[in-house]
Amino acid sequence: MAFLADALSRVKPSATIAVSQKARDLKAQGRDVIGLGAGEPDFDTPQNIKDAAIDAIRRGETKYTPVAGIQPLREAIAQKFKRENGLDYKASQTLVGTGGKQILYNAFVATLNPGDEVIIPAPYWVSYPEMVLLNGGTPVFVETKLEENFKVRPEALEAAITPKTKWVLLNSPSNPSGAAYSHDEIKGLTDVLLRHPHVWVLTDDMYEHLVFGGFQFATPAQVEPALYERTLTMNGVSKAYCMTGWRIGYAAGPDKLIKAMEMVQGQQTSGACSIAQWAALEALSGPQDFLPGFRTAFERRRDLVVSMLNQANGLNCPTPEGAFYVYPSCKDTIGKTAPSGKVIETDEDFVSELLQAEGVAVVHGSAFGLGPNFRISYATADEVLEQACVRIQRFCGALR
Ligand SMILES: Cc1ncc(COP(=O)(O)O)c(C=O)c1O
Repeated sequence: MAFLADALSRVKPSATIAVSQKARDLKAQGRDVIGLGAGEPDFDTPQNIKDAAIDAIRRGETKYTPVAGIQPLREAIAQKFKRENGLDYKASQTLVGTGGKQILYNAFVATLNPGDEVIIPAPYWVSYPEMVLLNGGTPVFVETKLEENFKVRPEALEAAITPKTKWVLLNSPSNPSGAAYSHDEIKGLTDVLLRHPHVWVLTDDMYEHLVFGGFQFATPAQVEPALYERTLTMNGVSKAYCMTGWRIGYAAGPDKLIKAMEMVQGQQTSGACSIAQWAALEALSGPQDFLPGFRTAFERRRDLVVSMLNQANGLNCPTPEGAFYVYPSCKDTIGKTAPSGKVIETDEDFVSELLQAEGVAVVHGSAFGLGPNFRISYATADEVLEQACVRIQRFCGALR
């Protein structure tokens, strides 16, 4: 009898964590390595948020909280959805989890039966398919194209829907491509969904605040109110408020779904960390004045990286609307020979030869379901990014 669960044979470890580990190993051997693999902002959590956590500790807010979250935070989440997205949710329709990750996981545990399909546009965040598989569901991928800025076309979405489709998972701005859907582009997709009343929408709006050049963020339940009753809108404080380590994510949706997710969480982790919840309350309801500064810094870095990558032989990098990732194609380097003598056959070869030759760690696109590409996280200092891009240009220039 096998000791490990069969479900484990269906999933693979996170490629982004593996790249970070490889970079750390090389560093430990004394190599000069620039890591552009991690998906977190390099900025520190704003001081007012840290202070709110310290105050919470001093006040003794150190006990179990209600499973779905402390009431003031649930109210602040409802207000956030009203203020920023024009969405009406009662506090009781919200749920606070240990990171956005737990919210997604709760949703799948609470809704997936064997054989249920979840449509996932590719490239996708590495955890989506694995979470679906762990919960007995079947991921159905819809590939996008670089020429279409990695966005799903309505016809492609329509073609992927079957009687077994339970969810469509949308993520805008996207990890890994940075692509963000405009109001009209979302409308194109929600029009399709109106014709398929059995399909629910799970929208991962984690990078909502990181959009550039005047881009207007929009989210499906806002664009198409008729989908409100079958949309789970998920968000979190990790990326915009530089709080990845605090582990707070949240969502709002129809009562019956939120209740089911709360039940799942109640048998798993219970309420999220009490101190982090008080900090998240400050993040959502305190001053928001640092956000434009973060956006300006990320936009400057995006422009630097896109321009330098497009000067590298064999790379093609579109300009994404948001997040802090770019997803260049390395198609024209396939078949060339790296300085080590190895012929580059896949994007995985490209990133591994780049790491060996120049000490720049990036993540291969096949890990995100679409290649040959690679993902660069530009959430790091401008000088470091510039140096990394110089090395990438040198590597590409040395391919024969
Ligand atoms: C698209 C997307 N969704 C969700 C998450 C998870 O966020 P959290 O760290 O809050 O669990 C991430 C983190 O990388 C992400 O990129």
